Amino acid sequence: MTQHSPVDQNPTAPQPASSTSAHAGSGVVPDFAPVPTDRPRRRYAVAGTGHRAGMYVAALTGEHADVGELVAWLDPNPGRIDFYDAQVGRALGLDGPAGLPRYTPDGLEAMIAEQSVDVVVITSLDRTHAELVDRAMRAGADVVVEKPLTTDVEGCRRITRAVGDTGRDLVMTFNYRYAPRNSTLRQVIASGAIGEVTSVHFEWALDTVHGADYFRRWHRDKANSGGLLVHKSSHHFDLVNWWLGDDPVRVYASGALRFYGDTNAADRGLGPRPERGTGVEGDPFALDLRSDPRLEALYLASEQHDGYLRDRDVFTPGITIEDNMSVLVDYRRGATLTYSLNAHAPWEGYRVTVNGTHGRAELEVVERGFVEVDADGKVVLDPSAVPGGSPVDDLRPEGDTLVVQRHWHRAERVPIPDGIGGHGGGDAILLKDVFRRDLRLGDDPLGRAAGLRDGVRAVSVGIAANRSLTTGQAVLVDDLGLTDAGDGDRSTDATAGAGGTPVR
Ligand SMILES: NC(=O)c1ccc[n+]([C@@H]2O[C@H](COP(=O)([O-])OP(=O)(O)OC[C@H]3O[C@@H](n4cnc5c(N)ncnc54)[C@H](O)[C@@H]3O)[C@@H](O)[C@H]2O)c1
Repeated sequence: MTQHSPVDQNPTAPQPASSTSAHAGSGVVPDFAPVPTDRPRRRYAVAGTGHRAGMYVAALTGEHADVGELVAWLDPNPGRIDFYDAQVGRALGLDGPAGLPRYTPDGLEAMIAEQSVDVVVITSLDRTHAELVDRAMRAGADVVVEKPLTTDVEGCRRITRAVGDTGRDLVMTFNYRYAPRNSTLRQVIASGAIGEVTSVHFEWALDTVHGADYFRRWHRDKANSGGLLVHKSSHHFDLVNWWLGDDPVRVYASGALRFYGDTNAADRGLGPRPERGTGVEGDPFALDLRSDPRLEALYLASEQHDGYLRDRDVFTPGITIEDNMSVLVDYRRGATLTYSLNAHAPWEGYRVTVNGTHGRAELEVVERGFVEVDADGKVVLDPSAVPGGSPVDDLRPEGDTLVVQRHWHRAERVPIPDGIGGHGGGDAILLKDVFRRDLRLGDDPLGRAAGLRDGVRAVSVGIAANRSLTTGQAVLVDDLGLTDAGDGDRSTDATAGAGGTPVR
């Protein structure tokens, strides 16, 4: 088990360049006190043993095993539990699987009681988050919940009520905040270098491997994921909320399914399609689950238990989410966000422009410059595994650039320190905050730790955008009635920027 590289990466997602560093730049990783020798480890259960669970399992059997202990699994699929139970066995140096107690979702309360669970880590599909948070808290556990907090208004209300009624702790794992490039942009804004923020332009491009993935499995049904404006964009809307230290108040959205799906395929003259990618040759849209050992074990070998297909063809019927989305958001203090998300781009990355009264900041990130296809017409999931390596793309090299330009000055490049771990170097730093935050030496000047209020605020934009897509009207976030954060919330103060300085 490596110390700093939790195995979390979805094989279809690009590996961010900054995540390959073994040593983070100075100031990127906060300082923590040593663990007191007499302190018992907290007892963790994982609810949802799919791909994302891997990061927490690796953390609790590796770098953070001194503060937390994995004590139980909860998932309807025994095959995926087997996969992680075997992994834990290996990490503990056992001859076979760890044999941790396992439960199906209806046994959540029994699991918490019987295994004396302190914290439930929720890495199940999005639509199940609200119920699991609510039941876990009422059964006496704290929760760590993956984004998005939930998918709809009722989910927000249910979670808010549970936190208010129980006073339990909710940690929202917004890992993008911890990516050094995103943290550095927050520092720039909070420093006042570009003055008061007046508008933000944010464009995110998902490529035909990673973006396509949302159209292959449960995300393709809006009832499961809230669509990409909730499932994916909650990361992005959280970043803007946090960069600005402000609340979204009015949302207008436009978008549609214009590329994936059977109707679009037929309109473009695409012939008959297979039902799934595994076994299909020469098709760059096909995901063959046998091409990656983790995909094969977690999904192909486990589908006999629940029929969950991880590799559905992206041009089959039944998709109810959008692949092209544009959103206009007004913020309480007056700034406007113009946002777009495209899920079928030939490269992956994002561009952010922040306009202020003293100038502008521009962040450009290329996570994957192009999608490589091998001689057989199949997508290369891990270009580093190709003999001779992957060719460097001169025009669109992977990396990140942050430029600040003040009025009447030349543009200046702002250095972005190295990170560690996946997701732009954010995951490994996030995990330290998740598992050892009570040992933190001093406050985080960036206010990266997130809680209930941040989670609600992030999905509020996507939920309002979904309503706007349906009605064709702008939606006031207050009209959604998501309710205020309850007691026990540990979110960052919306009015405070980095260092406690108001972001103006
Ligand atoms: N922060 C990030 O960057 C990031 C990255 C990937 C995934 N995620 C989040 O993690 C979550 C899981 O995503 P994934 O890609 O691992 O999905 P996945 O499909 O690989 O895994 C989901 C798991 O949940 C299980 N499940 C289904 N119903 C359940 C229930 N009622 N209770 C408990 N488990 C149940 C499934 O059997 C499956 O094992 C999602 O909410 C996703 O948004 C976050």
